[in-house]
Amino acid sequence: MKGAGVTALLSAAGSGSAMGMGMGQSMGGSGKGYNFDDIYSRIGHNSVKWDAAIRRYGRDKITVPMGIADMDFKQPPFVVEALKKRATYEQFGYETLPDSYYQAIIDWNKERYGVEIKKEWIRNSSALKPGMVSSMRGLNPVKGKVILSTPTYSGFRGAINQAGMRVEMNPLKKVNGRWTFDLDDLAERLDYETKCLVLCNPNNPSGECWTADEMRALGDLCISRGVTVLADEIHCDFVNKGSKFVAYSSIGEKYANTSITYRSPSKTFGQANLKVAYFYTQNQDLMDATMIGGGHEQGCNAFGLIACETAFRDGAQWVDDLQEYIDGNFDYLVEYINTPGNMPGIEYSKPEGTYLAWLDCNGIMEKVVTDEYRREYHDAQRDAGRRHSGLTKEMALGEWIVQNSGVQLNAGSSYGIGSEGFMRMNIAVPRSSLETALNNLNAALKKVA
Ligand SMILES: Cc1ncc(COP(=O)(O)O)c(C=O)c1O
Repeated sequence: MKGAGVTALLSAAGSGSAMGMGMGQSMGGSGKGYNFDDIYSRIGHNSVKWDAAIRRYGRDKITVPMGIADMDFKQPPFVVEALKKRATYEQFGYETLPDSYYQAIIDWNKERYGVEIKKEWIRNSSALKPGMVSSMRGLNPVKGKVILSTPTYSGFRGAINQAGMRVEMNPLKKVNGRWTFDLDDLAERLDYETKCLVLCNPNNPSGECWTADEMRALGDLCISRGVTVLADEIHCDFVNKGSKFVAYSSIGEKYANTSITYRSPSKTFGQANLKVAYFYTQNQDLMDATMIGGGHEQGCNAFGLIACETAFRDGAQWVDDLQEYIDGNFDYLVEYINTPGNMPGIEYSKPEGTYLAWLDCNGIMEKVVTDEYRREYHDAQRDAGRRHSGLTKEMALGEWIVQNSGVQLNAGSSYGIGSEGFMRMNIAVPRSSLETALNNLNAALKKVA
């Protein structure tokens, strides 16, 4: 049932388009000072989100790309200042990681999630996935399987393949309207070939912030079978009001001792291309295995180091404001979709965390992706010399949405079992861009509904 209430929210958020807004004027939800409303063009700067989409579809077809998980907001100003200062020291030779880098990570974890980490438990890598690939390799030298609770982040499949292993999907199940782990199914999948399970918390794409009890039940099963939990907590700084992020390493000694946690400032601060991430475990054997797995580079580039340290040291207020802004974007989205008559065929309710909206598009799928449209899409891909095997109906829907609304979404089909008919929308954009995207999408859907 689509409810009412968008009018109040729309007017509170400002209904003008991005073009009509004055510089620095907030559309609301900017918290205690930082402004996330301004549009900061990323076009022409090699952005995967913008430039790759424009290369693929053409400039006139891309109005708001909402695919790959990075944000359109500017870097925090204090990080930019620190990077400028670093650039004035004209030396970029080999460097060590200073204590202040580790301390910034340790303090951030203690202050925001109550997690105590020791410096000697931390290692760093250029991105999250390489560290995880090292662990997979080191923990299961004879290869085998890695478990994913799906739908979950598509990149895990690539990481598992890179480690030379096979993906085993343990689909989430819905209990009382909320997705959770299916432990009976998992018990059957944890066999002698399985040494690792990836836990994505909060879950990309569906947004659950797993509770301590859910994670303990999962962890107990893993411990009983000698399986290490690889806890990807890259989205942990995006938690909506009323929800809570709980770090896996904080739920009890035995869970901390049988897990490795992977984190990064890349999502929290929009630093993906500064190439810095870290991981930690209190269990020296697990760390040793990861080092033997060795798919990552220890050390850190000079700018990534400064950006990461500065962000974690000085960024608490910035992240508080950002969280509030993203939470406001979710409210805006939910109200928009659930307004009667809006967005026919799309079902959605607010998630607990991440900045990703997991839209149930099953209600529109058959109207758009007819057999004829699917054939046309296939042939057009083939004729353009693009990949045309294994095209899914979600990919076809994504193509139709771009062509008809200028909005780019990610096809649900890459997130594994349980994703049928879903599309992922990245809402870490200025509110006016979100508004434009929704208006465009709404108009397109209304034509076919
Ligand atoms: C859950 C999750 N883990 C890992 C990554 C990738 O991180 P990195 O680029 O640092 O490997 C992403 C990127 O979207 C993600 O959503």
